Amino acid sequence: MKVLVAGATGALGKQLVPRLVAAGHEVSGTTRSAAKREALFESGAHPLVADMLDPDQVAEAVAEVAPDVIVHELTSLSGAMDLRHFDRDFALTNRLRTEATDHLLAAGRAVGIKRFVAQSYAGWPYARTGGRVKTEDDPLDPTPVDDMRESFDAIRHLEDAVTGASWTEGIVLRYGGFYGPGTSMAPDGDHVKMIRERKFPVVGDGAGVWSFVHIEDAADATVLAVERGRRGIYNIVDDEPAPVADWLPAMAAALGGKPPRRVPRWFGRLVAGEAATVMMTEVRGASNAKAKRELGWEPRHPTWRREVAAVAA
Ligand SMILES: NC(=O)c1ccc[n+]([C@@H]2O[C@H](COP(=O)([O-])OP(=O)(O)OC[C@H]3O[C@@H](n4cnc5c(N)ncnc54)[C@H](OP(=O)(O)O)[C@@H]3O)[C@@H](O)[C@H]2O)c1
Repeated sequence: MKVLVAGATGALGKQLVPRLVAAGHEVSGTTRSAAKREALFESGAHPLVADMLDPDQVAEAVAEVAPDVIVHELTSLSGAMDLRHFDRDFALTNRLRTEATDHLLAAGRAVGIKRFVAQSYAGWPYARTGGRVKTEDDPLDPTPVDDMRESFDAIRHLEDAVTGASWTEGIVLRYGGFYGPGTSMAPDGDHVKMIRERKFPVVGDGAGVWSFVHIEDAADATVLAVERGRRGIYNIVDDEPAPVADWLPAMAAALGGKPPRRVPRWFGRLVAGEAATVMMTEVRGASNAKAKRELGWEPRHPTWRREVAAVAA
């Protein structure tokens, strides 16, 4: 099939393009930067330079390729994040989840795409009540934290627009937190650095449950979604959702450092803000049962726990 990957140079895009090529697809990939054309070409993709926030450039790129499938992996998350200003830091990602989604859907409709696969997130958007591990049928948070409201609305916009596109097979992949090469959990990644430097404390009881996924497994699942996904939402997470109070000390120990600091909830709220505090204490994890059952996906890295030692090495 002809597959257009929007965001082919990102952490996930870089893993996805060679897999799609190896599976026999004709792949095009987008970047904003002419300097990255060569790298895209080397990875087997036909490079397209375009700003996905510009509807004319999106229409032109999509029309040039006339793909069967569009994969939307656009984010703007590189660089240090400041969780005290969550929506401000996610502002560009939010535009990519709203405006760029709409541009890509419109352009895809004009050329009659069969499938549209888009990146979403399995984690803080789920309701912070009830069971600690959520399925795709569980509700999203009815009362998001004030400073996460715009980011929450952007995710909901993407998910509703994609799954509501009745003229195509609209598929949303709610990835867990990425780890592995090119991510913040790589040996040289921002989060690993913070953990090493004891700047990533356990806040309150650390009961917030996080779901992770190895970036290579996320890319494998995306190939399956491109080839056989059905309209709807899939959690793409590993087999072991874990509370912060579990995974963070395990990661710190594997890195050979001291255990993470522990700070009370009120202090976390004061210093790191409400969004970070909620993520440390209240968020829920996600179940991958549907992706296994319906996509036939099996993560090759079933638990972050096994990878901790590899990261440390
Ligand atoms: N589920 C998760 O945990 C999750 C999800 C996403 C990202 N992350 C993390 O965030 C960090 C950075 O992610 P990343 O490496 O994927 O980088 P990123 O800076 O978020 O960029 C992702 C992709 O979006 C493209 N892009 C951004 N704005 C664009 C625009 N206006 N028009 C066209 N393309 C645009 C980029 O292309 P160009 O820059 O080449 O133009 C790139 O291909 C990593 O640590 C990653 O693990 C985590």
